[in-house]
Amino acid sequence: MEKDKKMITLEQVKNHPDVKVYIKKANEFLGVIGYTEHGERHGNYVAKSARLGAISGYIHDIGNVVSRHIHPEAGAYLASQFLKELGMPVDDRVMIMSAVGNHDEGTCDAVSPVSAALIIADKSDVHRSRVRSVKEIKFDIHDRVNYAVTKSELQMNAQKKVITLKLDIDKDISDMVEYFEIFTARMVACRRAARLLGCTFDVEVTNTP
Ligand SMILES: [Fe+2]
Ligand SMILES: [Fe+2]
Repeated sequence: MEKDKKMITLEQVKNHPDVKVYIKKANEFLGVIGYTEHGERHGNYVAKSARLGAISGYIHDIGNVVSRHIHPEAGAYLASQFLKELGMPVDDRVMIMSAVGNHDEGTCDAVSPVSAALIIADKSDVHRSRVRSVKEIKFDIHDRVNYAVTKSELQMNAQKKVITLKLDIDKDISDMVEYFEIFTARMVACRRAARLLGCTFDVEVTNTP
């Protein structure tokens, strides 16, 4: 029985009816207050990148159904509820709760490999497809920088223990200076998280066209 309980998969989490509503509404509410896409696409991106924590990656932003300001904490408690309902043992649940609760760049502390992987995957998701309205790119620096990034990819060199964020930035739209103007805290969070994994963190930018 205990063995079965440990087999909770990402698919089971995705198909939980509450999770479907949390993901959809969290994204909708953030749209209302002008944030980039934080829905299924972002969840899937983070889930795929954070191999150690696919489940925490997918659900990490659901706390936005409560409030943007406390979404890491709110999300951790919401997650605990439905993961318990799905039969996940408490020691696995606390790993996910601590990862979700620690993912915001202002307050994040990598407390475990799962949490470190979530921070790096989440903070590296800067991409054109997250911009909700192209009209905004002139006026909103977050939209402009996201729109300028045509490719973002995380690479792990296990031998050298280096995690590299590779970005293609369309310099006609924005540039590295603007990128760091808004994302320095994120990059610092990634560096600290990488350290917990025994790695260094690097950013490589290719300017296009
Ligand atoms: Fe978040
Ligand atoms: Fe996120």
